[in-house]
Amino acid sequence: EEFFAIKTDFNGKKVMITMGPTQEALDPVRYISNHSSGKMGLALANTFLSRGAEVFVFSGPISLRVNKNSFHWQDVKSAKEMYMASSEIHDQMDICVFAAAVADYAPAEIYPEKIKKSDSTLSIDLVKNVDIAAKLGAKKKHNQVHIGFALETENEAENARRKLTKKNFDMIVLNSMKESGAGFQLDTNKVHIFHASGLTVESDIAPKNQIASLIVDQIKNIPVWI
Ligand code: CTP
Ligand code: CA
Repeated sequence: EEFFAIKTDFNGKKVMITMGPTQEALDPVRYISNHSSGKMGLALANTFLSRGAEVFVFSGPISLRVNKNSFHWQDVKSAKEMYMASSEIHDQMDICVFAAAVADYAPAEIYPEKIKKSDSTLSIDLVKNVDIAAKLGAKKKHNQVHIGFALETENEAENARRKLTKKNFDMIVLNSMKESGAGFQLDTNKVHIFHASGLTVESDIAPKNQIASLIVDQIKNIPVWI
């Protein structure tokens, strides 16, 4: 009787997901960005969808094949754009997942014309971007769940826990850089999950859709959910 079991445990829930990289324009033909593929964010979006949720996605530029019609999907480019779009619907959401690799800095000015090369060196001033998760975390209501991600190369657990507190997450997912088969671009991942309650969970190296199921299952351990 397990055969055709369909999980509907997120029926009626509104879930927002930020995903992919952001692109910060420098001039009409150049930008600053990172290697985020959006695979983990998309795996989460699909998992929530298959479990009955209404899913709102704000995605930076990605090159994955997606059926955007299954979601409330909005493509964005810069951190500022991602913030403005997501903050508009934030208070209607039950669950917010911050899976985007938001660029921490953006060029201080966008040159109106293509920057021409010269014989001297070029310096570009960068200014700090808005921290989307922190801003929305500051106005999180008691019945909302916020989930964050962290990618660390040193003091992994300590840094992840600090972000959990600072951004008011209920749970943070630490991506292991050190494990082979885990990380950017790949189809597999290994994560540590730290709950605000103190509970920690460690996954095996597994396909990103399996990791997504584990992450979604862990929402059941968040006090406001029970
Ligand atoms: N995040 C965000 N907006 C930003 C930066 C990060 O929403 N401007 C979110 C990410 O989506 C992730 C979490 O915050 O869920 C942690 O991102 P991370 O880059 O690891 O942390 P930072 O606070 O940017 O710290 P640092 O990069 O210096 O480690
Ligand atoms: Ca960062």
